[in-house]
Amino acid sequence: MKKFTCAADLGDVDIAVQKALEMKKSPYSEKHLGENKTIGLIFFNSSLRTRLSSQRAAQNLGANVIVMNVGTDGWALEYEDGVIMEGSTAEHIREAAPVMAQYCDILGVRSFPGLKDRDFDYSERILNSFINLTGVPVVSLESATSHPLQAFADLITIEEHKKVERPKVVLTWAGHPRALPQSVPNGFCDFMTTSRNVDFVITCPEGYELCEDFTRGARIEYCQEKALEGADFVYAKGWSSYRHYGQILKKDYDWMIDSKKMALTNNAKFMHCLPVRRNVIVSDDVLDSPSSIVIQEAKNRETSAQYVFREILKALK
Ligand code: CP
Repeated sequence: MKKFTCAADLGDVDIAVQKALEMKKSPYSEKHLGENKTIGLIFFNSSLRTRLSSQRAAQNLGANVIVMNVGTDGWALEYEDGVIMEGSTAEHIREAAPVMAQYCDILGVRSFPGLKDRDFDYSERILNSFINLTGVPVVSLESATSHPLQAFADLITIEEHKKVERPKVVLTWAGHPRALPQSVPNGFCDFMTTSRNVDFVITCPEGYELCEDFTRGARIEYCQEKALEGADFVYAKGWSSYRHYGQILKKDYDWMIDSKKMALTNNAKFMHCLPVRRNVIVSDDVLDSPSSIVIQEAKNRETSAQYVFREILKALK
């Protein structure tokens, strides 16, 4: 593997899930792979799970880790070509990214979208700058348009907890007071539509349809209650509109997942990438119930990151 930004980078995603679950049984058995290797984790935005799970994944493989909060600790970066740099930016990405690659064998990058300009965000300017300018493998730690390490962990979690061969997985939009990126639901759609092992349905209010590049003809059901019927997994997430880019179209929280809605399902497991706003996205009683597997899901962030780093380190040998 040379990079990791989408499900296709894993090859056969369902085989990758099986291999990752095998690896999870003995996470410290391949420490030789990371010997004398350094994984840089570059954060333009905040993180709890991605930061800690990626560090631990790298350590499990015996690799050194450098973490940098570029957004707060680095020089303000310039991305435009040909610009006269007499403003607030102090360093161009054309130097900053390749310099980071001098110290790191793999670079992980987290960079959120601005949610102002859809074409700009979906061009993945920052992530692609690292891919094009560094010459080292780049791992998305959540980009402007996707969160593949989260989605891979989600698919691993579904495989671990499923009770039927091909479970019904429902991605449901939920209201949120802030305009959120489409990265997590896009990544989830990428993985669910790539896997052969899930029956995938998206439910959202009209106007919240996600980018077709990620949903790829997946069934969209505008009635949330109908979508939830018979679900084996309910994955809730807030996101802003793709069509009316970055906007909040619906301000109430009547799409929140509560025990009444969970009662429509096939005794479904509740999933969320976290962090989650209680009693906005999901009610306390669902989140605190045995149906919730959000902690197990977060644990699998370590497994997804370790699998990706492992495959890249093997390719570097
Ligand atoms: N789910 C997730 O990526 O969490 P963080 O933003 O805390 O890393």
